[in-house]
Amino acid sequence: MKHFAIIYDSKTGTTKQAAAWIAEGMQAASDVDAKCFSIQDADLAVIRDADGVILGAPTYFASLPGTMKAWLETHAKGLGLAGKLGGAFATEQYIHGGGETTISELLTFELCCGMAVYSGGSSFGEPFIHLGPVGLSGDIKNFRELFQAYGKRFATFCAKK
Ligand SMILES: Cc1cc2nc3c(=O)[nH]c(=O)nc-3n(C[C@H](O)[C@H](O)[C@H](O)COP(=O)(O)O)c2cc1C
Repeated sequence: MKHFAIIYDSKTGTTKQAAAWIAEGMQAASDVDAKCFSIQDADLAVIRDADGVILGAPTYFASLPGTMKAWLETHAKGLGLAGKLGGAFATEQYIHGGGETTISELLTFELCCGMAVYSGGSSFGEPFIHLGPVGLSGDIKNFRELFQAYGKRFATFCAKK
């Protein structure tokens, strides 16, 4: 069985919802256990035991929220991320509001920690995912399939490793 942890920051619930959809998509792959953690209630022992870790955040000023950045800086050494598969997702209010920058910052953190990162892959066709999935807060219900597809692709890729 593969174990996955999805860690997110969320003030008004949009990114939390996206994380739950990613976990649903992972569970659609066989022999998977996926758990979601907000940065306030993250279980570091479970995260350390995970085969893959996905980080998600809202977009603040076309960037990562300070709360998420501070949490990652505080816990970087304790998360045991080196050697794991990593991924990232974001939410934003506006198209071109900076969600992909947020994802890039999360992926950069993961690379610095020694993770191998996975994007979801545009080669799968629709829904096309380049760096990771981004959902719009005002229309988040229409992004359900995008986040689920990403979770399923991530879990399926990890199962082959
Ligand atoms: C302080 C602040 C700054 C924000 N900056 C941006 C931004 O630069 N671009 C954008 O598209 N949305 C921005 N937003 C909107 C949030 O990214 C968006 O609503 C997000 O989905 C909220 O996630 P949450 O419900 O998980 O907290 C900002 C929101 C706040 C509170």
